[in-house]
Amino acid sequence: MTIQATRYDRGGLASSMTDDPQMQDAIEITENKGAICRDIMSELSDWFTEPDVIEACAQAIESLPMFGCVSGNSVAGFVAMQSHPPDAMEILVIATRREHHRSGVGKRLLTAAERFARASGCRLLTVKTLAPRGKDEPQYDATRAFYDRNGFIRAEIFPTLWHEDHPCLFFVKPLEAVN
Ligand SMILES: CC(C)(COP(=O)(O)OP(=O)(O)OC[C@H]1O[C@@H](n2cnc3c(N)ncnc32)[C@H](O)[C@@H]1OP(=O)(O)O)[C@@H](O)C(=O)NCCC(=O)NCCS
Repeated sequence: MTIQATRYDRGGLASSMTDDPQMQDAIEITENKGAICRDIMSELSDWFTEPDVIEACAQAIESLPMFGCVSGNSVAGFVAMQSHPPDAMEILVIATRREHHRSGVGKRLLTAAERFARASGCRLLTVKTLAPRGKDEPQYDATRAFYDRNGFIRAEIFPTLWHEDHPCLFFVKPLEAVN
């Protein structure tokens, strides 16, 4: 597989795709997971400011389930999942390329994440993100709004879990049983 700066051959995608250039539902990604994560997170420098954090995510994701939305030959956004058996599934990282923001990629990724969580027998979908910290940071307001508007509940703030300058907001989304 050839990896270019921002484009990926479809060989890394688990399911067969049509050549429709329109955005598709998220599919599982099984190859080049770290490279895709590194590439997209690096592009989102207003949110992901620390290279060490990006690298740690990229390495962790190699062994985690990952889903992505494909646009043409590019992964437009991805979500990676961390299991907390028996009942919780965490969104370790979710990110949409800036050019695709607000075009429904994030929602498709959440749908895939929820489906995966349910299929794994989980009753709770969780995610940790930066809590409000008294600064003018509209990009993080937008991230929190994304979770607020997609069924997540602000469960708790952990002031020092990550770092005292980076308070952690723990969101949870109860997953209703599907009979
Ligand atoms: C958070 C993120 C993944 C959302 O992805 P997205 O593809 O832009 O989201 P969608 O277009 O699917 O949005 C779905 C819905 O979420 C809500 N939403 C999304 N972005 C929002 C924003 N900036 N402000 C308010 N609501 C927002 C809206 O209800 C939206 O539906 P609508 O556009 O019909 O109103 C994306 O903004 C991103 O990559 N942010 C940077 C990285 C990041 O913060 N990751 C999370 C780290 S914990």
